Amino acid sequence: MTDKTTDTPALKANYESRFFVGNVVSPGDLTGARFDMLKKHFNFLTAENAMKPIHIQAEPGKFTFETADALVNAALEAGFKVHGHTLAWHQQSPEWLNREGIGREEAIENLVTHVKTVATHFRGRVVSWDVLNEAIMDGPLNPEDWRASLRQTPWLKAIGLEHIELLFKTAREADPDAILYYNDYNEDYQDKALAIYHMVKELNEKNPDVMGRPLIDGIGMQGHYLLNTDIKNVQASLELFISLGVEISVTELDVRAGDNHVLTEDQAIRQGVLYAQLFDLCKKYPGKFVRMTLWGLDDASSWRSQQNPLLFDAKLQPKPAFFAALDPDTFLAEHGTVTVKRETLQAEVRRGTPALDANDPLWQELPAIPVNQYLMAWQGAYGNAKMLWDERNLYVNVAVTNAELNRANPTIHEQDSVEIYIDEGNHKILYMQADDGVFRINFANEKTFTPDTIAGGFESAVFVREKAYTVVAKIPFRTIKPAGGTLIGFELQINGASSQGLRQSIAVWNDVSGKSWQNPSGYGILRLV
Ligand code: XIL
Repeated sequence: MTDKTTDTPALKANYESRFFVGNVVSPGDLTGARFDMLKKHFNFLTAENAMKPIHIQAEPGKFTFETADALVNAALEAGFKVHGHTLAWHQQSPEWLNREGIGREEAIENLVTHVKTVATHFRGRVVSWDVLNEAIMDGPLNPEDWRASLRQTPWLKAIGLEHIELLFKTAREADPDAILYYNDYNEDYQDKALAIYHMVKELNEKNPDVMGRPLIDGIGMQGHYLLNTDIKNVQASLELFISLGVEISVTELDVRAGDNHVLTEDQAIRQGVLYAQLFDLCKKYPGKFVRMTLWGLDDASSWRSQQNPLLFDAKLQPKPAFFAALDPDTFLAEHGTVTVKRETLQAEVRRGTPALDANDPLWQELPAIPVNQYLMAWQGAYGNAKMLWDERNLYVNVAVTNAELNRANPTIHEQDSVEIYIDEGNHKILYMQADDGVFRINFANEKTFTPDTIAGGFESAVFVREKAYTVVAKIPFRTIKPAGGTLIGFELQINGASSQGLRQSIAVWNDVSGKSWQNPSGYGILRLV
């Protein structure tokens, strides 16, 4: 194999007059080939983990800056600019800092002490901060109402809405020169983008002059994308955010393609097309779009290494995605017609009448379908599913692993739970009809149904193990007479709750729209045989 790394042009050089090109850094990256590559292609660094609350203040009042300081100082010495990530986040925060049920005064004190100490410590060394990370929920019902679209975090519950202003004001006072960002994922989903837009708009209108500037300076689009992310959605969100007058960065870019560390040639090209479209798009807003940061150097060190999401492969060789990012025009001229649309997944379902028991021998030798496409940034509970049918029922067996087994949230789909979506007629239309239904079962075998009328005849059993559970369900056919060859619209979703009772992950089989609960057109297909 020829080594393409030494003779590749520098990525950052092609964007010099447009925007910064960044990457993440961890302690192992500061020497050797990895640091050389970072220095060659990138001019901005974010600590992948070292500046998160859990690493900076694991115990109350004991601030540990050693790792973060080493990263920041090495980056500055090598000529990089540094972005700080993150002052407040409901993940990767120590339990004590914003625990469930904490009192208001104590929560405010914790927040102010943490933000003030950390932002003061890095003052003059970081250009910008993610002040607040991931505060908006996925799939808000009414995104115009940003208050109702907030994730129910302990800080929100303890302090109320003001915690957001308090966070940004405290950071501004501690480091008046740092550019202060709100940062979130799935920002290409238009409902979530709208909620973010309304939040930033209102808070900046209310606080136009916090030491000379509006409260929030920038919006970070994390950019954890998929092969079928539509560039038009990214563009719509980018332009919506720019209309607020704030600066925009893509802060955590990766594009998942393939699985199990396998990337086919076709997937590599389609991944390149999306990278090319993104770099090309972001060139068009000079002065407004300021930084494109990749979330990792190579596929092996990515937090999503299974899905090969970065510009360099596990041997640090440039992938088609690298050449696409380097020169989008040429790449798109060659491959621009390659469609990024994905086919609907189909599965064959054999005939059989199992008991409501995960150990029924009928399940054993059946092929399983994976429920492992994540819709949120977090990779939590996922699973495998098997199905059987007879003339009366569809039988579904979903084995879930990597689950926290939490049902503190009052809503089943926010708990560790499985959702089964059925469109008996496989109509693939945009709204729910009489033959459609949603069945939700949590790990304690509690259930809800939409609509309620489909509950009749439904039965389920759940088998729980450590961090894992299996749901077996019997779902009567209501509007069709099944036969060999019948096609059924079918989707599965696994919701994963955190130990604090917040949904932190969603894994699906086929429908990555996030809208399965109200729109059956994206479901996968079962073929009865
Ligand atoms: C990820 C890191 O890449 C992993 O190493 C770590 O185990 C979990 O966090 N959104 C964010 C980032 O804002 O901080 C996350 O980074 C990815 C999702």
